[in-house]
Order: sequence, then C-alpha cells, then structure tokens
Amino acid sequence: MVEDRFEQSRTQERNLAMELVRVTEAAALSAGRWMGKGNKEMVDQAAVDAMRRALDGVDMNGVVVIGEGEKDEAPMLYIGERVGNGSPPEVDVAVDPVDGTRLLALGVPGALALVAIAERGSMYSAPPGVFYMEKIAVGPAAKHVIDINAPVAVNLDRIARVRDAHIDDLTVVILDRPRHQEIIRQIREVGARIRLITDGDVSAAIQAAMEDYTGIDVLMGIGGAPEAVLAAAAIKCVGGEIQCKIWPRTDEEREKLKADGIDIKQVYRVDDLVKGNDVSFAATGITSGELVDGVQYFGWGARTSSVMMRSRSGTVRYIHARHKWRKAPIR
Ligand code: FBP
Repeated sequence: MVEDRFEQSRTQERNLAMELVRVTEAAALSAGRWMGKGNKEMVDQAAVDAMRRALDGVDMNGVVVIGEGEKDEAPMLYIGERVGNGSPPEVDVAVDPVDGTRLLALGVPGALALVAIAERGSMYSAPPGVFYMEKIAVGPAAKHVIDINAPVAVNLDRIARVRDAHIDDLTVVILDRPRHQEIIRQIREVGARIRLITDGDVSAAIQAAMEDYTGIDVLMGIGGAPEAVLAAAAIKCVGGEIQCKIWPRTDEEREKLKADGIDIKQVYRVDDLVKGNDVSFAATGITSGELVDGVQYFGWGARTSSVMMRSRSGTVRYIHARHKWRKAPIR
C-alpha cells in the first residue's frame, strides 16, 4: 500500500515534468508559423497565447516568477499570474515563450520556447529596474574554479586546467554586442576561441554546462536577468555553475538601484537563482539550433524537437514528437 502510494506519487511527479514539454511544444508549434515574417510582436503573441493555454492544463498550482513583465504591460504570463489547474504541487514558474524573438522573426537558427518550474518561493525574481546581468556559466568540471570577479584570463586558465586542456583549446560563447568589446579583446589576447551569437544566451549557457557534448566550455558576458534564472534552472538539472551580477546599463540606473538598497556587487550563484531541489526544465526548438531542431510543418501535422531535464534525477531527455493535425492544417 505504502509502495503503491509511493509509485503513484512518483508517476504523478514524472507526468508533471513531462507535461512541461507539451507546454513548450505548444508555444513552438504556434510561434513557428511566424518564422521569417519579420514580425516580432506576432511571434511573441503566438507563443504567449499557446503557452498560456497549455500551462492551464498542467496539474500544478503555479505562480509566474519569470514572465513577460509586469501586469500592466503584459496581458498574459505576467509576473504574479496564476497558472496551472490549481491542484498541488505549489510551484514557481519561469517562462520565456520565445528566447530569440529576433532570430525567429528573421528565420535564423537558435530560437527556443522555454519553461522551468521549481518549488514555490525558490526562484530569484529580479527587483524592478534590473534588466541585465553579467554572467559566467560552465559545466560540472569547472564549477568550483570560476569566479565572476576574477579577470577573464584567470577564469580561462583555471577552466583549461580542470578540463586538462590549453587555453587555446577552449571555446567561449558570448553575445555579439558592442558592450562586449573589451571582454572579447581579453579573450582573444589569451588565445581562446570565440563563438559569437546574435541572441539566445539561455541555450548558450546550457551548451556550456553540457561541455562534453557541445564543444562550448564557457559562457561569458552580459545578457537578460530573466534568462539568467532560466539558465540556472537548466544548469541545476545538468550540473555545472552560473555566476551572475546585476549589470546597470547607465549611471542613472546604477544610482537608482543603490537608492533602492540593491547591492550590485552581490554574486548570484546557481543555488541563489534557483534554490529548489526539484527543478524541471523544458525547451522546444522553434528554429533549428545547436541544442535542438526547429519545428517542421507538413500537410499532416508537424515535428518538434525538445529537451527535458529534471534536477532530482539528473535525467536529460530528448523528445522528438510527431503531432498530427486533428482537422485540416491551418493555412
Ligand atoms: P528575447 O528573444 O526574449 O528578446 O531575448 C533574446 C536575448 O538574446 C536573450 O537570450 C539575452 O539574454 C538577451 O536577449 C540579451 O539582451 P540584448 O539583446 O538587449 O543584448
């Protein structure tokens, strides 16, 4: 009897984690229709609508902690919004219906639909006025040696040593932004290889954490604060570390944060960004990328590629799904 109950609760837990893939698949299937059409607003709208609907079918009592912004600006998936069908467990929900809106609008690789859940109260919610974070992310081998406050050369030297490699064997992934000129100069100076990406630093952080499969050793640079939490959720599942610091864009922003009592020197580690021990993460490709393939549409339906992870077990599943249209395909 006790064993039965245990089995039953394990099954329910497993189902909940698997349900997340349905959520990201729904967002990807809907947003993928807008690939290459140059319309960022519609890309976002399609993904948010579909994700919102799918989330309501999930057996959970969720609160959006990372979402589309404040209620006044975001009609759906706003921070504080309740999602799920209201049954236990109580969880925090982080969503990014499209990470890489520009990529999708242009039809270039790397756009993903993302969602993560963890125990209620366990996800970091950036205070108002915090938009960006400085980040460094690595896989399990280098998790104890990185230090976001150390010079680039020191971090790369330490990563190379624990990876039993030379610095010029390492590949650093970094967003291609003018703000990264100096860090790129420093990386080049010590001879590491660089992969510049135009968008999508959650996928880049995951690739760094899955170093042995991806050939990416470290993510460096400044990206979105919400994306840091989603990346931390995935890293919590696969192992590795992300360290982040709030990055004010202007002196005015810096002063404002100071006045609000926010310490911009504080380092947020993976366990600060996602404190929970039962974290589930799912991503579905919208346009094909390094992590998963994009959506393919056919007359009969569509194919999606997703990755699903769970921190408790450390399981990473790749799911290739074939979705059959129930009626005639939407044209
Ligand atoms: P969105 O698709 O949500 O706009 O985010 C894309 C992204 O590249 C993130 O992956 C990254 O963290 C952030 O934008 C970087 O911000 P910015 O483009 O302003 O440098």
